Parts: sequence; C-alpha cells; structure tokens
Amino acid sequence: MKKPVPSDAIAFFGMTGDLAHKKIFPALYNMAKRGALNIPVIGVASSQWTVEQLCDRARDGIEKHGGGVDDEKAFGHLAELLDYVSGDYNDLQTYKALRQKLPNARQPAYYLAIPPSLFPVVVEHLGAADCAKNARVVVEKPFGRDERSARELNEVLHQVFPERSIFRIDHYLGKEAIQNILYFRFANSFLEPVWNRNFVRQVQITLAEDFGVDGRGRFYEEVGALRDVVQNHLLQTVALLAMEPPVGTEVEDLRDAKEKVFGAMRPLTRADLVRGQFDGYRDEEGVAADSDVETYAAVRVHIDSWRWAGVPWYIRAGKNLPVSATEVRVELHRPPQRVFAEYEELPRDTNYLRFRLSPQVQIALGARVKLPGESFKGQPIELSFTEDTSDEMTAYERLIGDAIEGENLLFAREDGVEEAWRVVDDVLVQHERAHPYKPHTWGPAQAEGLIHGGDGWHNPGI
Ligand code: BG6
Repeated sequence: MKKPVPSDAIAFFGMTGDLAHKKIFPALYNMAKRGALNIPVIGVASSQWTVEQLCDRARDGIEKHGGGVDDEKAFGHLAELLDYVSGDYNDLQTYKALRQKLPNARQPAYYLAIPPSLFPVVVEHLGAADCAKNARVVVEKPFGRDERSARELNEVLHQVFPERSIFRIDHYLGKEAIQNILYFRFANSFLEPVWNRNFVRQVQITLAEDFGVDGRGRFYEEVGALRDVVQNHLLQTVALLAMEPPVGTEVEDLRDAKEKVFGAMRPLTRADLVRGQFDGYRDEEGVAADSDVETYAAVRVHIDSWRWAGVPWYIRAGKNLPVSATEVRVELHRPPQRVFAEYEELPRDTNYLRFRLSPQVQIALGARVKLPGESFKGQPIELSFTEDTSDEMTAYERLIGDAIEGENLLFAREDGVEEAWRVVDDVLVQHERAHPYKPHTWGPAQAEGLIHGGDGWHNPGI
C-alpha cells in the first residue's frame, strides 16, 4: 500500500488548556526524546501568551504529568519547534496569522483540543482562511453527545475535510494492550475455531477505577460513565474482539471489518443497563445536589451476527471501585458431558481467556488440571503471559505520531462512531435512576441481575 505523506507542521487549538498540559506536552516531549518530532508545532489559543510562557507551560505539564524533564536537549529541541498564535477563534485574522506561521507547510495537521461546541467555528474558518488544503484534522473525544450530534459534527468536518483526513481520537486504540488483542486474534490460528457462539458462553469487560471524578465534577455532570468510556473505549474494545478477520491487508480492510461490528450491535434497552452513583459524588464541586448522573454503568450488549448470535457481552465501568484495572474475560462453555464425578460441583466458568489491559498487559488462559492423586479431581490454573511495556510509547504519543504520519488505523471512523452512538442512544435518556453505591465497592448490587445464568461478575484482582 502507498504510504501517506507525513504532515510537515502541526497546530494545536486549545494549547493552553488542560488536555495539552496533561497529555499533549508530555507526548510531544517523549517524541522529541525519541528523535521523532521534527516539524513546527504551533499552539493556538485565545490567551495572550508569549512563546516563552507556552514553553513554561510545556515544562510544567511534563513535570506534573509526564515523569519530568530528564533530557534538557530534547526539551530544548521541543522548545525550538514551538510557536504560538493567540487570537479569537471567531476571527479570520487568527487563521491568517496561523497560515503565516506555516508558509512552507504543504500538508499541515490541525489538532482540535477544544470543546466540540467550537468545532464548527474553527473548521469553517480553517476552510475560509485557506488552511485546509491537503491538511489533516485530529479531533478529541467526546465526539458528540448522542447519535444526532455526532452526525452533525461529522457533517461539519466533512464540509472542509474528507473522511480520510479526519483522525478521531479514542486513546484506547493507541494502547499497546488493545492492539495486542487484534494481533493475538489474527496472528494465531488456534483461537479462530473456538471464537464464536458455539464455544463462547459470555464475555465480560470491566474498566474499574479506584478513584472518583478527581475535581472533574463539572465535566462529569455533562457526560456520565456511558458517554465517558462505554460508548467509545469499551465498545471499541468489543469491536476488536468481535470483528471478522479482515479480507485484506490494507488499513481500510481492517477498519471495514471492525466498523461492521458496531452496525451489528443491538440498541440497548432499559433492561440492558444498570446505572450507579457513588456516595459522595453529589458533594463534588460542580455537581448538582440532586444529580442523577452515573459514575458507574453496566450494560448487556448483543451482537446480531452469525458468529455472536446469543452470546451476551457484559460491560461495566465505574469510578471509586476497589481497584484500578481493565480486563476482558472470554468465557467458554464447559465440557458438554459428564466424564468425571466432580462435574456437577464444578463452577461453570473455569475455561476462559483473560486479557488484562491495565495496569499490566497480560494474556491468560484459564483451565482445569488434575490434582496429583488417585481420584479424578482437578483444580483451576492459569497459563499467563505478562508483557513488560514500561518502555512503550504512551497512547497519546503513538496517536499524535500516527496522525502526523497520516496512518489512520488507530482512529475511529465516521460510520463506527455513529453506530456506536446508535447502540446507546435510547438509554442515554430512558433509564432507571442511578442506584447509590459505597465508594470502594463493586458498584450497585442490581448489576448482578444483568448476568444470565446467575454466576455473576468476575472482579479483576490486582
Ligand atoms: C478517559 C475518561 O477518556 O479515559 C476518564 O474521560 C477515564 O474518565 C479514562 O478515567 C480512562 O483511560 P485510562 O487510559 O486512564 O485507563
């Protein structure tokens, strides 16, 4: 396949904001350390800052959120690449000033680290100021609030940028562990025969965080767990687990296979969702005294496809749970017939594949083996493999690098994003009130009722 032409400059709208401070500067610094950043980096924002102030902000972000500046030469290199345009996003002059900073850029990239409500004005002005020719645009989540707003955002972007030039960030797709799911599935052949409804009994995915909303109460009031992590990170994870093998080696072949899964997901109904809210959430700054926003969501997803018909996918995410860990557990049916006396007493779920996505990257196979001795009695064991990813790029580093290179494999595509919203759209508004739960517990007891067969959720340990 022909490689895309890399961008020769990148501009970040919202460079004085929170996301830049926490994620973008540390990622750029790491790229500079690896020698992977050699194009002008222009910050754009409304604050009247100097380039020196921006550099100070960069250093602060790297110190606080990126492990610190341990290579002054690399930081100096980043500082040399940095430039800044201050101006009103509603004023065409801002974009003309940006254009002047990029006189030789033939294929610039624009990263919108700004609230989606500002996308229309920025995108329109990029077009009007002749900034968009051959350009790429990188957009942050949340990509809309529901299906309708996501479609509107797509329309806004498409007025100026073709789909192949739009890079929608879902940082989960930049994680090593997530890519490993894709690799493990399609680089091995032993999995395929069992990877379907005939052998898989259920799939469980848990994204647990042992902290609350960390001062982000105002933001959380606008989103809640369903919008924050389920519609995007967790449904993307489902798509990678459930997709058919791609029919070719092109990036779009792979994306086609993945995006099709969203189309086969059945829209959630009230009965497929349990929402929870941890006690104390309403005392957070920016949170309404009678807030019904969920800090925990558990859902049951069905994929109406030949491969997955009848297999329930249980997904849950919550703040203030007992541990921080994200895990997928693909559980197989138990053997069909009694061969050993212990059969009736056995739990149903001793045969499974477990993908630990964080804090470690781990793949494990759960099985029963015979205990030494005369009788045919066994014990559950796990064959597991843990990868050392301490030197790996962070998700943001990888995704910013890929966007600059024009590689769009790890970005969400228009159809998938809209379909994923379709799946959750009804229950965003039609749901029971959130059930309270105590911090550092596994969420409301009602979530147990979602699981068919009565054997409950598997809580990831650490
Ligand atoms: C973000 C959410 O997108 O993902 C956060 O806004 C959440 O609320 C985070 O904590 C989880 O991602 P990670 O990479 O920190 O596990």
